Amino acid sequence: MIVGILGSGAVGTTLAKGFLAEGHEVYIATREPDSEKAASLKTDLAGATVTDFATAAKSAELAVLCVKSDGVEAALQLAGAENLAGKVVIDTTNVIKPVGDALVYGGGEVSMAEQIQEWLPDSSVVKAFNTVGAATMLNPDFGDQKPTMFIAGDDAEAKQSVSVIVTLFGWEPLDSGGLIQSRSLEAMALVWINNSIATGPHHAFKML
Ligand SMILES: NC(=O)c1ccc[n+]([C@@H]2O[C@H](COP(=O)([O-])OP(=O)(O)OC[C@H]3O[C@@H](n4cnc5c(N)ncnc54)[C@H](OP(=O)(O)O)[C@@H]3O)[C@@H](O)[C@H]2O)c1
Repeated sequence: MIVGILGSGAVGTTLAKGFLAEGHEVYIATREPDSEKAASLKTDLAGATVTDFATAAKSAELAVLCVKSDGVEAALQLAGAENLAGKVVIDTTNVIKPVGDALVYGGGEVSMAEQIQEWLPDSSVVKAFNTVGAATMLNPDFGDQKPTMFIAGDDAEAKQSVSVIVTLFGWEPLDSGGLIQSRSLEAMALVWINNSIATGPHHAFKML
């Protein structure tokens, strides 16, 4: 499968490594594919194509959105909704807001995933990989316990294909419902983030 990773921060590079390890073809997007950062990405992600957002979106059979929340709209404009039409788009994003010395959920009533679905009306958006940090996202090792990856989306077939990926990456997928449930998953991410600040990144949710 050809995977278009839209964003090249910690999440984008981690998931790119996961897809490459599973034998997929990976295009990873940055706004400046000729920059020094892009050159180091090419070294770090041997076998991946480091490119711009439109090329990654157009080339992809499956897209994964891994962009800073306040850059999502701009990134999708660069990617082009038409290049993502008819495709599954995994949304990993979170909106985080500092209040005093606390970090809290920073989105509105409507989740980022629902907003993205509005911007990409002809794509199937599935929320996934937002309730864990990048350092623990791939092949998490908790002994004989498999942690839970919560997913949400309105397209059952798209959720099924994302569940397969989540399983390959070492998680037990849990279908949390329609895309509206991204509201809960995006807020839940702050529980992970705040615990990570207190204890480090090696922890994950498990539904028991
Ligand atoms: N870090 C984690 O552990 C973690 C875990 C789960 C979910 N998330 C969420 O996943 C998303 C990605 O997080 P991250 O830590 O990997 O990286 P990030 O620093 O939040 O985002 C990096 C990417 O965002 C792009 N970007 C930033 N502003 C942009 C703009 N105005 N227009 C277009 N692109 C823009 C950057 O493009 P350039 O390459 O061109 O600079 C870069 O590729 C975030 O929404 C985050 O909340 C993060």
